[in-house]
Amino acid sequence: MKSLDALRESHLTSIAAASSHDELEVARLAAFGRKSGEISQRLSQLGKMDPEQRREIAPRLNHIKNELQQAISAKKSEIEEREIEEQIGQEWTDITLPGRYRAEGTIHPVSQVTEEVIAIFADLGFEVAEGPQIESDWYNFDALNIPPEHPARQEHDTFFIQNSDSDTGQPNVLRTHTSPVQIRAMNAAKPPMRIIAPGRVYRCDYDQTHTPMFHQIEGLAIDTDISMAHLKWTLEEFCCAFFEVEKAELRFRASHFPFTEPSAEVDLRCSWEQGRLKVGEGSDWLEILGSGMVHPNVLKAGGIDPDNWQGFAFGIGIDRLAMLKYGIPDLRAFFESDIRWLRHYGFRPLDVPSLHGGLSR
Ligand code: PHE
Repeated sequence: MKSLDALRESHLTSIAAASSHDELEVARLAAFGRKSGEISQRLSQLGKMDPEQRREIAPRLNHIKNELQQAISAKKSEIEEREIEEQIGQEWTDITLPGRYRAEGTIHPVSQVTEEVIAIFADLGFEVAEGPQIESDWYNFDALNIPPEHPARQEHDTFFIQNSDSDTGQPNVLRTHTSPVQIRAMNAAKPPMRIIAPGRVYRCDYDQTHTPMFHQIEGLAIDTDISMAHLKWTLEEFCCAFFEVEKAELRFRASHFPFTEPSAEVDLRCSWEQGRLKVGEGSDWLEILGSGMVHPNVLKAGGIDPDNWQGFAFGIGIDRLAMLKYGIPDLRAFFESDIRWLRHYGFRPLDVPSLHGGLSR
């Protein structure tokens, strides 16, 4: 029979020589396998020994058993670590590769211009008001002094909604302008008041400068002594600020809107240089908005006494302002969600327009 020392030596050597989990398992079984393991066999023989002999052999055998078990678990960790190292060596990642491409968002010119216009009028003390896009026939027309038989109704190319208003039984429409917000604002607050109301409006029309949905911004100022002079000054201030020029010259052309009296369409002096608009000089005139003094019937519909109060109102096309200021030729492209168009005409996010920081940078 092998001496205990020789036994220890040979098992330590085969454990040390193992280079994989399988080889280590073979070495472990050679020592500790239940039937044929040499150390297991020796341990089971202890019981048959005479006490004298057992007292001498047992501690040495136990010591060797512990030593071999430690050697096995140390070897096991060594193999595991080496395997991880090898895996890391194979599975490397090239962190210098470019990241996955993600389309970058931009601010749509309509949003940009809306923010610019709001910033300018907020500075003049106007508050933002809102109204619904599905509007009752009454708010869109009657309250604005457009009775059912009025020819102005035909001019609006109105989209009618199939379901009528559940409270009044009146037909609903997609609002054809932001003017109904005038009435809603008058209903909601007491004069004096100054509001602007940006939003979507709808008319059945489609060509290079018309889309069935577009954007307007409504202005309304009511006080005891408001006149056309206030209107003119306010719009001049607006044009200078919006087009970022020192001077803007406006021309008031007599016009007709049922909800204002007198009414004026307002033109802006400009010139075109190589297709690009120059505001403030030149011999061309550009129509930019409709306006006038609020009609007494409209004040009444809004619950305001026309004997004590008067005011001006105006309506501007936001999309048209965007086309003019940023040289965008076709309105239809505004609403096609073409990422290349948005990248070209869009604005950097987080550059919020303000009068002190600059409207368009
Ligand atoms: N609502 C008119 C339009 O859409 C514009 C307008 C508003 C005119 C307010 C006068 C006063 O054409």
